[in-house]
Amino acid sequence: MPVVKVQDGRVAVVTFGEPPVNSLGLTTRRDLAAALDAAITDPATAAIVLGGANGLFSAGADITEFGTPKMLAAPNLIDLIALIEASPKPIVAAIEGTCLGGGFEIALGCNYRVAGSGARLGLPEVKLGLLPGAGGTQRLPRLVGVEPALNLILSGEPVPATAFKGSPLLDRIVEGPVVAAAVELANAKVEELSGRAPPRVRNRPLREPALDAFLGFARNSIKAAFPNYPAPLAIVDAIASAATQDFDAGIAAERRWFSELLHGPVSGALRHLFFAERAAAKIPDVPESTPLREVKRVGVIGAGTMGTGITINFLNAGIPVVLLELGREALDKGVARIAETYEGQVRKGRLTKEDALARRSLLDATLNYPDLAECDLVIEAVFEDMDVKRQVFERLDASLKPGAILASNTSTLDLDRIAAVTKRPSDVIGMHFFSPANVMKLLEVVRGRATGKDVLATVMKLARTIRKTAVVSGVCDGFIGNRMLEQYLRQALFMLDEGASPAEIDRAIEGFGFAMGPFRMSDLAGNDIGWHIRKRRYADTPTMVYSRIADRVCELGRLGQKTGSGWYDYRPGDRNAQPSAVVDELISSYRAELGLVPRKFTKAEIVDRLVYALVNEGAKILDEGIATRASDIDLVYLYGYGFPAWRGGPMGYADAVGAFSVVHRMAEFARNPHGDPAFWTPAPLLARLAASGGAFNSTGVRS
Ligand code: CAA
Repeated sequence: MPVVKVQDGRVAVVTFGEPPVNSLGLTTRRDLAAALDAAITDPATAAIVLGGANGLFSAGADITEFGTPKMLAAPNLIDLIALIEASPKPIVAAIEGTCLGGGFEIALGCNYRVAGSGARLGLPEVKLGLLPGAGGTQRLPRLVGVEPALNLILSGEPVPATAFKGSPLLDRIVEGPVVAAAVELANAKVEELSGRAPPRVRNRPLREPALDAFLGFARNSIKAAFPNYPAPLAIVDAIASAATQDFDAGIAAERRWFSELLHGPVSGALRHLFFAERAAAKIPDVPESTPLREVKRVGVIGAGTMGTGITINFLNAGIPVVLLELGREALDKGVARIAETYEGQVRKGRLTKEDALARRSLLDATLNYPDLAECDLVIEAVFEDMDVKRQVFERLDASLKPGAILASNTSTLDLDRIAAVTKRPSDVIGMHFFSPANVMKLLEVVRGRATGKDVLATVMKLARTIRKTAVVSGVCDGFIGNRMLEQYLRQALFMLDEGASPAEIDRAIEGFGFAMGPFRMSDLAGNDIGWHIRKRRYADTPTMVYSRIADRVCELGRLGQKTGSGWYDYRPGDRNAQPSAVVDELISSYRAELGLVPRKFTKAEIVDRLVYALVNEGAKILDEGIATRASDIDLVYLYGYGFPAWRGGPMGYADAVGAFSVVHRMAEFARNPHGDPAFWTPAPLLARLAASGGAFNSTGVRS
């Protein structure tokens, strides 16, 4: 029974519960409206307390209903809040735990609000590409003022109830039972009002001095900060309406913006990603009840950039780490790098000195494998070479206690071959961090043929502890992310052959929204990484056609930012990429060798060739079962490769464009006389979707 009404003297206590987060779906809204109506019309009731069950108020509207008829069906949230607000009997919101979105808006529609000191309140709609659509933009400024309301709604972050001490937003902040305190307040208000109508937030005056100047400033800052997101500007406009129009006109304006945003592509993309994040943690054949192994101490092998970045993640989460290197100098350097990272954070005011010290004190450094004996999990982050990795795993197998998890940070190599050198392949798993490992949110968790379900479940849980978004990948060359990246980079190089410049390609895809184009990204990561992979390809897969320009850039020692030059030139101490005459010359002479006359590119062609290269490979990865679901691929690209969130990830973007249109465009590229028709052959899944009108994100989860 999601809605319960009990009588406490002359106060009716109505609670609603819809596990896990008390979202306000149609059934709950209907039941709530009925319970509230009953209380309002019951002569024995003088006041009402409204609270959430299960220790929380509500996480807001049921997002799964968005875009469906259920969302608008009566009573919608606005109807429900109107019912509450019109009550002649005072209604007190009893706010415990989470109080977000439409839940917070219900509380704002109540006459009084009592919150537990541990409650957190917020309007996170902006994160879904929306604005609060049930009066939040109109009522909140009437209680806290225009600027605080704008900040809260624009950030989308929940705020502790205690931050509102003294504000008319909360009538009481209490330590003990919240419903009891709300009942007490309700009784007091019945006396105080003595039959008069209770106060309504909608009637509170909102007068702000220098409003125009403030709103003008807010609009300009937002346009610069969020050029591709329409919601923040709509939020300013809605709040401006609250301050300049009457309440009903403001509500109508808010409703219009909400509806416009809800049906726009950006909110669609962000809602897709919201559910993608939650889905990624679920592995079809690994039930939630799978027993977990305890991870109290972690080992990291390799004190290079990757190893130290990985180490910092665990230290930050309060998990002790033993960092191992083979040579003293490299080990000392690694330890110093970790110390510098923390010092930098202290300097920037992001961490206190004490916290930095506490984290550093969790680090042990060693040159000896036996010192890893007590570790519950060891992650290897050594040079990306099969023989080197296999040697490390042989030593780990000999040194680690039974039940320890052996993880590899390999970004491309066959995990099953690595596992095969151990006597415990079921304890072996891939944990592919992205550089810088202490910053990038993505963790690709590679499930080998023999990886134990408990090992997988443990690592997925651990990923949450160290605040990573984990996505499971099966074993293949490059796993999800780098396998797709290889096709994207091949395409970028083909376009150089045909006439585009590195800067033109980077600009086009950055204009699409990528954080960094392929050439700037390669310069940052180090061009030798791709070079190493290509050399392996030339030996393993000689049929794969590659432009050789990238090799020539590397042959000149132009390995990227670290050598001061790569696809671009870099002035000492300056990361700004400057076009390079040397590279231009190299590209021209390579074109001449191929007999290619350079041609002009449109931005659209550059973007489509790069993105559809990702989509086609993503389709193969999905069809082969390497990725569990299309949305996992979207997360990999969002958090690992800087794909714009507002476009929903490559597969979400392809769904928005439509598989038919994607395939049609690929056929155009296949007809390019200098193109590679094999490259543009649609993956079987993409072809099937194009024929059926289906979408990647409705292809279901594999088991
Ligand atoms: N609607 C539907 N489902 C929701 C939901 C919502 N508002 N909020 C959370 N859920 C679901 C999640 O999808 C997840 O489902 P599964 O278990 O099936 O994956 C489950 O609840 C638990 O969520 P989390 O895994 O995120 O749990 P958590 O404890 O880490 O976080 C939370 C809880 C802080 C509430 C977080 O889920 C959250 O931020 N939710 C979104 C809140 C939100 O955006 N509310 C505004 C909605 S829009 C609105 O209200 C519009 C309006 O103005 C009319």
